[in-house]
Amino acid sequence: GEGFVIAIDGPSGSGKSSTAKGVARARDLKYLDTGAMYRAMTWWMLTHGIDVSDPEAVAEAAPRPVITMGIDPDAPTVHVDGVDVAQEIRTDIVTANVSAVSAVPRVREILVARQREIIAEACATSPGIVVEGRDITTVVAPEAPVKLFLTASADARAQRRSREMQSTDVMATREALVRRDQLDSTRAVAPLTQTPDAIELDTTGLTLDEVIALVVKLADEAR
Ligand code: C5P
Repeated sequence: GEGFVIAIDGPSGSGKSSTAKGVARARDLKYLDTGAMYRAMTWWMLTHGIDVSDPEAVAEAAPRPVITMGIDPDAPTVHVDGVDVAQEIRTDIVTANVSAVSAVPRVREILVARQREIIAEACATSPGIVVEGRDITTVVAPEAPVKLFLTASADARAQRRSREMQSTDVMATREALVRRDQLDSTRAVAPLTQTPDAIELDTTGLTLDEVIALVVKLADEAR
């Protein structure tokens, strides 16, 4: 089939995941969280004693974990070697180390290849897919008919992340988030970048439902 792809990039806490899931549900599309794949890779490295500060060690180990994604927006899943790691990949230790792992070119090669397979499969067997991450509009699916760059002020993003993680220390969350965005935006390979052909959506003053409605409208117009 001629599957429809919506590509969404943006920094941490910009509302990508909630927006992507909501849009997928509204239009019966699949949903792929590529950040979960980098997190799963990082979790595997940490639990297998790989020194994540050593890019060569990370590159050598990168082909070993088998990462499997469930792409139903109502129940997305992530498994590593058959183990459900949905909870484990959201821990502070994974969040603190994911940028180092995702900056290793071999890691990106492997995961981008897998992401393209998942997208092709979804397009062949369903109406399409919403894919979110940092390099979807630039590297993974630059041909997508809808490309979006979600932003929000650092304060708004820190507020949202803190609420998600049920943390009360908004300042610490803000600091960690700004640091991770800095690392993700300045790495050599596939940095988080806003391309001119992606539509920028500043979600700072908008509710989630408003953002979803806007994206659904853009998608319907592009179809
Ligand atoms: O989206 P999330 O915050 O879960 O992503 C976790 C990390 O995975 C990011 O901080 C980034 O280092 C990496 N990532 C990436 N490319 C993507 C998606 C995520 O490098 N497409």
